[in-house]
Amino acid sequence: MDDKRAVISSHNHVLVFPLRVQGHINPMLQFSKRLASRGFRVTLITPTSSGNSMQMQEQEQDRSIKVETIYDGYNEGEKAATRDEFLDRMKATVPQSLAELIDKYRSTQWPVTCLIYDSLLPWLLDVAQSSGIHGAPFFTQSCAATVTYYHALHGSLKLPLEESSVVKLPSLPEMEFNDLPSFVQVPGSNPVIYDLVLNQLSNLDKAIWLLWNTFDALEDEVVNWISSKWPIKTIGPTIPSMFLDKRLEDDKDYSLSLFKPKSEACVKWLDSKEPGSVVYVSFGSLASLGEDQMAELAWGLKRSNYSFLWVVRESEEKKLPSDFIEDTSDTSLIVTWSPQLQVLAHRSTGCFVTHCGWNSTLEALSLGVPMVAMPQWTDQPTNAKFVADVWRVGVRVNVGDNGVVTKEEIERCIREVMEEGRGNEIRQNSEKWKELARKAVDEGGSSDKNIDEFLEELSSSVG
Ligand code: UDX
Repeated sequence: MDDKRAVISSHNHVLVFPLRVQGHINPMLQFSKRLASRGFRVTLITPTSSGNSMQMQEQEQDRSIKVETIYDGYNEGEKAATRDEFLDRMKATVPQSLAELIDKYRSTQWPVTCLIYDSLLPWLLDVAQSSGIHGAPFFTQSCAATVTYYHALHGSLKLPLEESSVVKLPSLPEMEFNDLPSFVQVPGSNPVIYDLVLNQLSNLDKAIWLLWNTFDALEDEVVNWISSKWPIKTIGPTIPSMFLDKRLEDDKDYSLSLFKPKSEACVKWLDSKEPGSVVYVSFGSLASLGEDQMAELAWGLKRSNYSFLWVVRESEEKKLPSDFIEDTSDTSLIVTWSPQLQVLAHRSTGCFVTHCGWNSTLEALSLGVPMVAMPQWTDQPTNAKFVADVWRVGVRVNVGDNGVVTKEEIERCIREVMEEGRGNEIRQNSEKWKELARKAVDEGGSSDKNIDEFLEELSSSVG
């Protein structure tokens, strides 16, 4: 989202606070760049526990956004034993560290005017307001998944559900049990994350803006439903316009990454392939497959007979079948992290086997890449439902009775998406959504207007 238009503000200073998860850092960083391009000063907050692993990649010297580290209860490099402990310690230490940071800037020419915070940390709104500045939550998941959390929180969706349940919630299509977020399917499966996702809806009545990484055309009914409750501003997709326009020769972006992408190797390998011939496979930054699922996926990819580029994070590498790498080395590239936007925007990429993390879903949809949806947990089943049945830009795998997707099923889905017939319809729909995504962020589009409105309202409220 690089924007060459007029500067709206020359005195606003916004702090941006994502949770230390790649799928939260990426959209919040891209949104920050958009603010910086309109004259806002932006400081991105990283907690001390991120240590040296959270590094700016590329164009270090040119970046427009400052990064500041604040104390979150851990010294650099020290890691929390559990998620629960991490969140508790953060809640105990961050309010003071953040208030001090806001104070530090108070007497400078860049006093902080707003805190844009990860919606999963709703208590940050109180920190902002008690420091006398604005606060705006930033949602890194779909509106649809959030509406299911709303009904779980307010009891209008009675949990636990039977596995045979079919649920009809306002503004959403009919959803089967397996289409609901994993924490709604089985609330007890991960109580810490269940509370985290539900609680993001608990402190919103005092917020003036809810910023959301989606766009109106994509989730129109759901966006309207949320608008009737809270002042939502859809601002997505937060993808730099050079990718949306495929002006890749201008690819001089920077990122804030917890992983080191194998950019050159990926692009060089993709350059050597035919247009639309490669299957790209990635399960994002968190999902972890069982060893048997990893083997089925590996052999399913081989059976499909397409070249594939597969991201297997370091922590997952040991699960690869031992004879597989040798067996497929001339048709495949396996890397520990890819420059995903570059990969999806590359002409050789024909389809994306994805866990349907919200960012991966939005990125593929915005770049017109058809998907094989293989959701794992959290909001991903709901995203997969929309990919397959609402936007119709991909197919969803069937899961076997033992919870594993077989190699035959993976092969079938890849072929369905890559080949003629259904594949043609999916490619046409993908092109349509790509165009609508671009329109939303182009000058005068729905997200573009919302961003301008937010910036103008913020500027006029601080004088
Ligand atoms: C999580 C959740 O899964 C998601 O649904 C939630 O709403 C946000 O956070 P994650 O599981 O990591 O994130 O997936 P995803 O949302 O797809 O985010 C991954 C990000 O990492 C994407 O922006 C993707 O472009 C990037 N990525 C992934 C890379 O740059 N390289 C890779 O090799 C893999």
